[in-house]
Amino acid sequence: MSTPTDVVMQRMLTVPDFPSKGILFRDLTPVFAHGPSFRAVVDGLIEPFAGKFDAVAGLEARGFLLAAAAAIDGGVGVLPIRKGGKLPGDIIGETYDLEYGTATLEVNPLSLPAGARVLVLDDVLATGGTINASISLIERAGWTVAGIAVVLELEALEGRQRLAGREIHSLLTL
Ligand code: PRP
Repeated sequence: MSTPTDVVMQRMLTVPDFPSKGILFRDLTPVFAHGPSFRAVVDGLIEPFAGKFDAVAGLEARGFLLAAAAAIDGGVGVLPIRKGGKLPGDIIGETYDLEYGTATLEVNPLSLPAGARVLVLDDVLATGGTINASISLIERAGWTVAGIAVVLELEALEGRQRLAGREIHSLLTL
């Protein structure tokens, strides 16, 4: 029987020079597009955290796909953590550095009750900037981080070090 790691390795595409020259882009689209593989990936992401979370947060944009499926799988709700300027109302935001420039993520602190345990899902952990900002938002909103799960961890970019002390579950590390 194929493990979640097997299905990622079998279907992931590696695209040279995208989005810019010298970058080797890991495209998980074919993994998600294949029903049995998508199910195996979603099940594999949440399996270590069974019974330990009240909601699943997905990080825009590809994290939304995983989080919505995982929330249904886990019998809980889904929380989109959105890029700046998309959410209405009294939102809170975290701005973080990119290689060139900055990015902002936002959430509405009224989305979940105080103390909710939130599992954070995304497709890729690279530098950890996106997940780190999401963790800050979750904690500022009065919730706790139940854990972090990603399909692919790019070890050379040292995201795990940036998130030291957090429980991180990666299906595949390259
Ligand atoms: C990618 C990826 C992660 C993030 C990881 O998203 O989906 O969310 O980068 O990088 P980091 O660990 O260095 O922060 P991207 O910002 O390209 O957004 P998209 O999913 O909307 O394309």
